[in-house]
Amino acid sequence: MKQQQLMKEAHLHMPQGVAENYRYWGDDKTVFIQHAHGCELTDSDGKKYVDFRLGYGPIILGYQDARVDDAVIRQIKQSGILTGFATELDTEVVKQIKALCPHIDKMRFANSGTEAVMGAVRTARGFTGRERIALVEGSFHGLYDELMWKSDIENWQPGDKHAPSVIPFGAGIPAKTRELVDIIGLNDFEALEHLFKHRSDQLACVLLEPIIGNAGSISASQTWLQRLRDLCDQNGTLLLIDEVKSGFRVAKGGAQSLYGIYADLTTYAKAMGNGYPVAAFGGRAEVMDVVGSNKGAVVHGGTYTANLVGLSAAHATLDILANTDALNTVDEAGTRIKQVLSNVFTRAGLAHAFAGPPAMLGIHFTPDVPQTYRDWRKTDSRLYNLFAWELIERGVMLEPDSREPWFFCEAHATVDLSWLEDVATQSLKAAQDKAVR
Ligand SMILES: Cc1ncc(COP(=O)(O)O)c(C=O)c1O
Repeated sequence: MKQQQLMKEAHLHMPQGVAENYRYWGDDKTVFIQHAHGCELTDSDGKKYVDFRLGYGPIILGYQDARVDDAVIRQIKQSGILTGFATELDTEVVKQIKALCPHIDKMRFANSGTEAVMGAVRTARGFTGRERIALVEGSFHGLYDELMWKSDIENWQPGDKHAPSVIPFGAGIPAKTRELVDIIGLNDFEALEHLFKHRSDQLACVLLEPIIGNAGSISASQTWLQRLRDLCDQNGTLLLIDEVKSGFRVAKGGAQSLYGIYADLTTYAKAMGNGYPVAAFGGRAEVMDVVGSNKGAVVHGGTYTANLVGLSAAHATLDILANTDALNTVDEAGTRIKQVLSNVFTRAGLAHAFAGPPAMLGIHFTPDVPQTYRDWRKTDSRLYNLFAWELIERGVMLEPDSREPWFFCEAHATVDLSWLEDVATQSLKAAQDKAVR
């Protein structure tokens, strides 16, 4: 197996033998990719997969989309990758985003979701003159020390009287950063009222994913999100919606357009560049105008900001998303595949529920759609994990953790549904057999 040789060598050069933590799936299971096209991956041993993981969501059209790749090549042949100066494209791309997301007045760019969130949080603090921030249980906002606090759900049982303890993601996170962060549960009205009662004049922003792309697309209810919006307004707190996963994916205008509830600041990344590294944050002009170079302004910048590889990819991708049926195709593919899987689960007598929109589909083995991250703990995530590994074995790529949704892209329009149904049926049977052993 070539992959195992590659892993052995990589161990000599990188911690865990991988370029970043989330790629390590164990010494015998870590996947090395040799080729990616459309919605298909080929690993270094030549095994092919239909990919529903899509690099954690950025691929919205497909791998090697020629419309995007050609635009990038044209751009870098014309003007290189970066000069550290402004280009016309900066404004062009912001105008494209504003046309799809009319709640945005002004933006700045970044190179990753993490960096966009960092810029947005700093802007919220600069605008409000406050330091505290609140997060929602189960959300993920990138590897930024202050936001690397999470509810220890694995060591919490449904029915426990106490809330899960809040722990750092790992070593190296200063305990002091915890002092500035509150964590509340999604759809928990009591926690929301309590938060604003106790933090009203200290809270710079509440940061959340309304459709939690990092907790199986468990979603805020319309009334809870509206109450959050209202409380933010009443308390001078900014609503910061992280659309790094949902933006330009669940709808042209992102999750906010599905709810009709809009943030003061929003972060985007992933789908905006079909996999090219590009991100942005933006919002109301009054808020964004605290960014600048005057004394007292919020500082934002970076060598690679708005580099022309990322920006030309965003320009081409956003043009396709705005002016073609691509996102309908993505939705239809997700809806068809959801139906196929539902048939498989129903035939096997397995209680199941889907969360979130079809383009970013949470699949949970439980009778009712989870409403909170703690509800996720009631799902049969062990069976899901066994099922996922059986699917991977049979050529369906996905994250083996049900907190990661299934992602769909335009290229999934051609997936052979009867093949998928067979493979899912076999995989579920094998997983259920293993589960009772
Ligand atoms: C909602 C959300 N915000 C921020 C991030 C961080 O983005 P990046 O990995 O590009 O730094 C992620 C990554 O998955 C995310 O899902």
